[in-house]
Amino acid sequence: HAADAHRTDLMTITRFVLNEQTKHPESRGDFSILLSHIVLGCKFVCTAVNKAGLAKLLGLAGETNVQGEDQKKLDVLSNEVFIKALVSSGRTCILVSEEDEEATFVEPANRGKYCVVFDPLDGSSNIDCGVSIGTIFGIYMIKDGHEPTLDDVLQPGMNMLAAGYCMYGSSCTLVLSTGSGVNGFTLDPSLGEFILTHPDIKIPKKGKIYSVNEGNAKNWDGPTSKYVQSCKYPADGSSPKSLRYIGSMVADVHRTLLYGGIFLYPGDKKSPNGKLRVLYEVFPMSFLMEQAGGQAFTGKQRALDLVPEKIHERSPIFLGSYDDVEEIKKLYAAEE
Ligand code: AHG
Ligand code: MN
Ligand code: MN
Ligand code: MN
Repeated sequence: HAADAHRTDLMTITRFVLNEQTKHPESRGDFSILLSHIVLGCKFVCTAVNKAGLAKLLGLAGETNVQGEDQKKLDVLSNEVFIKALVSSGRTCILVSEEDEEATFVEPANRGKYCVVFDPLDGSSNIDCGVSIGTIFGIYMIKDGHEPTLDDVLQPGMNMLAAGYCMYGSSCTLVLSTGSGVNGFTLDPSLGEFILTHPDIKIPKKGKIYSVNEGNAKNWDGPTSKYVQSCKYPADGSSPKSLRYIGSMVADVHRTLLYGGIFLYPGDKKSPNGKLRVLYEVFPMSFLMEQAGGQAFTGKQRALDLVPEKIHERSPIFLGSYDDVEEIKKLYAAEE
């Protein structure tokens, strides 16, 4: 019966991407092989996160990263897992990780045509208290058949071929776009497979939630302050928006994608470029938002148009429901 078909017609992420490949025949399966290695990394981190409390994986690793942050044991472990999985895929040539000061250039024998930028563990401050955390990644194609250089990863986000995140929460959910829409997959631990559970995700055009760290309000600029004020005291008498802020970008963005609303990490007097990193936080999440019918804005321009000059560069970001982001764009335009 058709009703039973879905129970026996398991759409795994591997099958899904292979189907997508028909649209990119030139990739000759390389992309599918790359993605299967990213998926392997996510499965490993998912089990490590779930066992963290038991396997003494909580707490600090005793190192600090280029961001000046204390690295957690899981930050370091996840980073090593993804670097090894990506190099062993034989499909990558440059890797940029939040946890490594320099980019990794894969040795020629193992080199492929993809560049992967990633945040191996996002929301590290939430690890020890069991709140959802995640992995974020973006994929570029190397510019052309020359010796790989940093220019191959300092590309605008609009050049990304694919982007996604995996959220390690009550369930392990991988959200992915390869440029034709957004799809969500949930790990079935009994099968060890990511199964399609959220086909063709579209973000509501307008939402009732705003998501920002209100603790930084003292340092915000005019447009951000005016926007947040309008969320709390709407001028048109409509009901105020709810505030939801988890402090893990993956979790805040996943909720925004599914429920609608706006996520903001603005610049402020202390850090004019905000906190979030362009290559492996701002670009992948902006890519997903646009693919789901939302938008992403830096306070000055469309986020995906930004051309990064350094691999750990930061940018303010306002992303989410189309109409909500439109509001903040108007306030910044009025400032000019
Ligand atoms: P990471 O743990 O990868 O360094 O990222 C943390 C980021 C992001 O996940 C989150 O949105 C933001 O930090 C929260 O920052 P605040 O605690 O300053 O609000
Ligand atoms: Mn960090
Ligand atoms: Mn992060
Ligand atoms: Mn991180």
